Amino acid sequence: MKWPDGPQTPALLQSINLVVNPLKYLDKCAKYYGDIFTIRFLSYPPVVVISNPQGMEEIFTANPKQFNSGEANRMLPRTFSGDSSLLVLDGNLHQRRKRMLTPPFHGERMRAYGQLICDITKQVMMQWKIDEPFHVQPSMQDISLQVILRAIFGLNEGTRFQHLKKLLNSLVNLLSDPWSASILFFRTLQQDWGPWSLWGRFVRLRQQVDEIIYAEIKRRRNDPSLLGEDILSLMMTARDESGELMTDVELRDELMILLIGGHETTAMSMTWALYWIHHLPKVYENLMVELDTFGSDLEPTAIARLPYLNAICQETLRIYPTVIFTSYRIVQEPVKIMGYQFEPGTFLSPCVYLTHKREDLYPEPNHFRPERFLERQFSPYEFLPFGGGNRRCLGKAFALFEMKLVLATILVHLKLVLADLPPVKPVRKVVTVAPSKMYLIPTEEKVSTSNTLVYR
Ligand code: HEM
Repeated sequence: MKWPDGPQTPALLQSINLVVNPLKYLDKCAKYYGDIFTIRFLSYPPVVVISNPQGMEEIFTANPKQFNSGEANRMLPRTFSGDSSLLVLDGNLHQRRKRMLTPPFHGERMRAYGQLICDITKQVMMQWKIDEPFHVQPSMQDISLQVILRAIFGLNEGTRFQHLKKLLNSLVNLLSDPWSASILFFRTLQQDWGPWSLWGRFVRLRQQVDEIIYAEIKRRRNDPSLLGEDILSLMMTARDESGELMTDVELRDELMILLIGGHETTAMSMTWALYWIHHLPKVYENLMVELDTFGSDLEPTAIARLPYLNAICQETLRIYPTVIFTSYRIVQEPVKIMGYQFEPGTFLSPCVYLTHKREDLYPEPNHFRPERFLERQFSPYEFLPFGGGNRRCLGKAFALFEMKLVLATILVHLKLVLADLPPVKPVRKVVTVAPSKMYLIPTEEKVSTSNTLVYR
């Protein structure tokens, strides 16, 4: 089999580059080798990186049996996901689990969370003070974690999960700089040298999270009247084809992946959006014209349909997609992609970031220009922040809905300005690429709307 060209530096060096400075490294590789190249990681077979819409189409429209992703995700450090979440399943099991988990994140069930998302946003905003800079990212993490916790554990479980919220925040923040995050990718660093070592702290926090989750599962098993419409209840009552219920370990693995996957990605995307909106006055003005004509009544479904707000969210996810690669696709039967013949066992890696940086699709790709999404429709192989095909993100609709409601709620209530700090740049987090430290300052409360907050 002929491998596409790629860098010849040692695998260790390539791995370090990809963990510490992934975007710069990918830009460099694409410049030298074009839209299909081979890179090498430690403890992995070579990986073929693809950033061409034709290649995406060939992968995303193939028969799901042609590629396995769960098998590849099982090779990732099992820090959060365990052995039995959607992320690590393939074939019929994957299809069935996905079908089961899809409804709560779509349609009416999703829209039921609209008012709650706005209310949680307002609660978090109440902690901000006029003329005092606040760190945007923790606030967005607070909002998205509360939202996903409520979706998973039920609308009325607010205070029950304050402790879980704190632990999950600590767990994610523990690995939030590139050096700490590298522990996820280099298995030899995963040593428990006691509660003060990085891995030791991680393992202990994760254990506390597990205990709370298992206790909640037990509480509901013991008293079925506690089962409601939330995702945990749904999973606890669903039976597979042989009539079996999910085990506690399977439930725990699935919850963990939804909590971690659904929380950081959305939080970082909202942080980026707030950055762009306040960094570019014209974008802010255009958006406020749209939100002002909309009036003071924040009706969630109508907010979700606003075209310029939608274009801002799309451009935010285009220019720095928080997830830069989709899951790997491991070839199962010989296949031709972009003219290359790949044998079973080959790792393909559709690259969201590089596809979104293509000059032929997105002229001046480094410029934030929401209008491009109003001027033309991009195909699912050109714009793919949520991946595609049978592995497409489960939370796509939910994340976009949440982003729009949170942004609109903040902007109609408060005038904010960016604090004067060094320019914001992308940095690696646990599973995402996020903006570096960024502060906003509330300068005035807008009293023209009916939903005013009270600031002191
Ligand atoms: C802006 C926010 C988000 C972004 C950018 C994002 C991005 C992605 C991407 C790129 C993938 C890989 C898709 C592929 O391999 O083709 C993915 C998968 C996944 N995402 Fe998201 N995601 C976001 C929010 C969420 C939320 C809110 C949830 C939870 C409800 C979620 C749950 C998942 C799950 C379970 C998968 C695995 C799907 C599968 O393997 O079939 N994501 N996401």
